[in-house]
Amino acid sequence: MSYYALVPAAGSGARMGGEVPKQYLPLLGRPLIHHTLATLCAVPAIAHVFVVIAADDGEWDRHDWSALAPRLTVLRQGGATRAGSVANGLRAVAGRVAAEDWMLVHDAARACLAVSQVEALIRELADDPVGGLLAVPVADTLKRVGDGKRVVATVPRDQLWQAQTPQMFRHGPLLQALEQCPDAVTDEAGAMEALGLAPKLVAADATNFKVTYPFDLQLAEWILRSRSV
Ligand code: C5P
Repeated sequence: MSYYALVPAAGSGARMGGEVPKQYLPLLGRPLIHHTLATLCAVPAIAHVFVVIAADDGEWDRHDWSALAPRLTVLRQGGATRAGSVANGLRAVAGRVAAEDWMLVHDAARACLAVSQVEALIRELADDPVGGLLAVPVADTLKRVGDGKRVVATVPRDQLWQAQTPQMFRHGPLLQALEQCPDAVTDEAGAMEALGLAPKLVAADATNFKVTYPFDLQLAEWILRSRSV
């Protein structure tokens, strides 16, 4: 039984604005996704890292990936949705990965992932029958709104967590779940839940956030710099 990482990176990053997809924006002199992939490649337990990009991606070949080359394979088979990209990636690696092997699916845009966070996930879930994901407890008070942004209810937050990635599930069950999941599913855990399974949360921290808005790039830069000193 082995561990593999799969990074869906076929999104356009529309909320970031700009011409270049957000995974290629510069962060400390490298494309953002290079940091993400380098961290996964640095985890000794991970046998290999796969990245799924759009078939018409015009950016990948403009950058230098040689430092990661022996540990990284690029798959040009992105789908219309994140679930589609992950499912395409899982199908593409099926000849190399066994159904019972663990896949750690990680957002390209979570560039501040730390090796220690990945290792905590693997340690907690290695013997788990289902698998699970990194997550953090919700810190803010949450409001449900109706028409005209009027508050309808305050949602108790004591049992609410924010899902992060990596999300770690076995290759066979995950592919099956993604092939059957409703269109609205936005993460791997959601697809497993739709089959009646209960993924386990592993507590992480807020540094593993998803770079989504322009300001986030500065925060990511600060976090990465603070680790390298
Ligand atoms: O849009 P969002 O930030 O939720 O995307 C999460 C991850 O899924 C990103 O790494 C993005 O590149 C990827 N994605 C993908 N294929 C899509 C849409 C998103 O690989 N069609």
